[in-house]
Amino acid sequence: MVKVAVVEGDGIGREVVPAARDILAAVRPDIEFFDVDLGYGLWERTGCACGEETVADLGSADAILFGAVTTPPDPGYRSVMLQIRHALDLYANVRPIRGDTVDVVIVRENTEGLYSGIEWTEPDRSCTVRVVSRRGSERIARYACTLAKSRRHHLTVGNKANVLKSDCLFVEVCTAVAAHLGVPCTARYIDALSLDLLMHPDRYDVIVTTNMFGDILSDAAAYLVGGLGMLPSANIGERAALFEPVHGSAPDIAGRNVANPIAAIRSGAMLLRHVGDPASAAAVEEAVVRVLRAGIRTRDIGGTAGTREFGAAVLREVGRGKA
Ligand code: NAI
Ligand code: MG
Repeated sequence: MVKVAVVEGDGIGREVVPAARDILAAVRPDIEFFDVDLGYGLWERTGCACGEETVADLGSADAILFGAVTTPPDPGYRSVMLQIRHALDLYANVRPIRGDTVDVVIVRENTEGLYSGIEWTEPDRSCTVRVVSRRGSERIARYACTLAKSRRHHLTVGNKANVLKSDCLFVEVCTAVAAHLGVPCTARYIDALSLDLLMHPDRYDVIVTTNMFGDILSDAAAYLVGGLGMLPSANIGERAALFEPVHGSAPDIAGRNVANPIAAIRSGAMLLRHVGDPASAAAVEEAVVRVLRAGIRTRDIGGTAGTREFGAAVLREVGRGKA
């Protein structure tokens, strides 16, 4: 039996996660779901966005299906997403960019870099420490190389070692791990890489990079496949795994049944693969493609279907695939 924690979170997380959850429940009736409340909405109601017990609940699941949380740009507010990634040591953020002519995976180091959480504010300046450790770089490089070996055997290391000392270590370690594991590897500066990925996605297989570069690069790469509503992700640790859309809580469209649930549904498919059910994962992914081919689309990708209508169409297709 598989235990899945479900976090809707804030904004459109409350709309796209139910769609994904219904589809998972249909393909795997044996999954035991339990809801976990956290995020900005909870903070507004109780003054606590995510307590230690909540993190322990998440850690007790075989996998976590996560929507999105709102994080205000307030120096007094701690990002719940960073809290969870650190607490559960979800070190590998895996972001596949897949479309008709694109198949790239961005592997983002998820626990250090500029999101190390080591920061302070002084009266006239504010500082954030960018941490790159040998251990952190080694394990993300190993993850990315193992993935590349199961794909087209190429690793690109996105970096800014020309300016940042910390990235000299990142490139050194990634290059050494790739050589050790027999994966051809190219280091590219992140600014030029960002444009080249959009112009020539066929040149890339797996891209490994540090935390903030991976955050920005993956949102930009969404351009290749129709936007943020399309991109799923996995946050993987040794003992826990969390699956969420790349997008955030999208307050500008929340509560209007217009959000694209594909990113959340595809995150659900990644969850199924993680718990050892590639057949169900493929069934969900194929159902999404069939619905798109039938011309059913949400507004962001040129259609008129609502979140619920799109989710229901995928649910029907999944049922048809099983019959
Ligand atoms: P966002 O990803 O929420 O939205 C960016 C733009 O893309 C918006 O115009 C939105 O309407 C659109 N969009 C996003 N997902 C969509 C979908 N499924 N269907 C259709 N359109 C979609 O990023 P933004 O606006 O920068 O951040 C909003 C909030 O989300 C912030 O509080 C931010 O901190 C938080 N956030 C949370 C994340 C998480 O929980 N992992 C990740 C990114 C942002
Ligand atoms: Mg982001």
